[in-house]
Amino acid sequence: MKSISVNRSAADRLRAFHPWVYRTDIQAAEGDPGELVSVHAPGGAFLGIGYYNPASEIGIRILSFSRTEINRDFFRERLLTAFRKREFLAGTTDACRLVHAEADDLPGLVVDDYAGHLVLQLNTLGWEPLRNLLLEELLELRQPKGIYEKSDAASRRREGLATVDGVLHGEIPGRIEIEEAGARFLVNVREGQKTGFFLDQRRNRETVSSYVEAGFDVLDVFAHTGAFGIRAGLRGAGRVRLVDISREALALARENMAANGVSGETVRADAFDYLADAPGTRDRYDLVILDPPPFARVRKNADGALKGLRHLIAQSLRILRPGGLLAAFSCSHHVSQDGLRLALLEAAADRGCRIEILEHFFQDRDHPQILNVPMSLYLKGFLVRPL
Ligand SMILES: C[S@@+](CC[C@H](N)C(=O)[O-])C[C@H]1O[C@@H](n2cnc3c(N)ncnc32)[C@H](O)[C@@H]1O
Repeated sequence: MKSISVNRSAADRLRAFHPWVYRTDIQAAEGDPGELVSVHAPGGAFLGIGYYNPASEIGIRILSFSRTEINRDFFRERLLTAFRKREFLAGTTDACRLVHAEADDLPGLVVDDYAGHLVLQLNTLGWEPLRNLLLEELLELRQPKGIYEKSDAASRRREGLATVDGVLHGEIPGRIEIEEAGARFLVNVREGQKTGFFLDQRRNRETVSSYVEAGFDVLDVFAHTGAFGIRAGLRGAGRVRLVDISREALALARENMAANGVSGETVRADAFDYLADAPGTRDRYDLVILDPPPFARVRKNADGALKGLRHLIAQSLRILRPGGLLAAFSCSHHVSQDGLRLALLEAAADRGCRIEILEHFFQDRDHPQILNVPMSLYLKGFLVRPL
């Protein structure tokens, strides 16, 4: 295996089990793009084995911090370890993230399971030579009904890779029905956003819906296919209104409402415009959910993202009934929990009220958070009540 030496700061990061080497930290490199390389500190000490992409800002992603043979058994063991971590979900849902990239020691790889149909995202060059091995292992270990590859993430462009989108094995229906705590949702893997469904919010949907009382008026903003609103509907909400900018997502949301016997309405609108007008109407809600897209995919946009969130929160506070609840989320790694807390505090100051925090939210456990891998914590949120 060829060797790459990295500078002191990369060596320190790797010794703390951070799995990335930035291209600018590489001092001397042998190795071809996509190849496995062994990584060494300035004095020559071994740091790990990873795959190399000189075209990416992240030049090496570490697969192992110890001297190990990286072969089929290695990947099988990693996959099995990841699958075992999801066993806690058995009996509550048939859909989960089976592999969450760096957080499962398989950098660049995402595998979601929708009722026995697997959706893969291979986000890095290092996975290109491993596609067949991965496919064979997944077929043997999971016996899926179908496998779909949806490698269209922006990160792939940063790796110099084109989109791969299509069926790799078996059947992938246009609608896959999944179950989440008694609710039924249809997932459109081929045309939906990300891999089709926001699995990471599962536990938060459970918590938020547990606060819903019979007759609640619920506004689900950035609703996608309606998962929060529908779960609130199943808890007896009186009126459910879903707002999203995506026509396709709302069409599926209507199918989902019908599948669950939940009545509600969908509004196709830009949430900023919708919430700008909402306080001027008579509509008031007992629960508002704000689950926007990341806004800040890169660090330099974090301030703008927080400003947007503060604005959305301030408007939402204005349309809550007395005693009403607001669930506000950010799924950008670059927006911290403290940042979101401050946005809530500033929005409350605008509104002239105090805020009680009822719940702190994070992504569900099938999207593991590894303390040494800072980007693995990306989803955070609060359930609050203005006082
Ligand atoms: C993180 S997802 C929401 C997931 C959803 N809450 C769930 O649990 O399934 C963000 C959603 O925001 C929508 N969106 C993006 N920009 C928007 C905008 N400016 N106004 C309204 N919706 C928008 C996207 O179409 C997407 O459905």
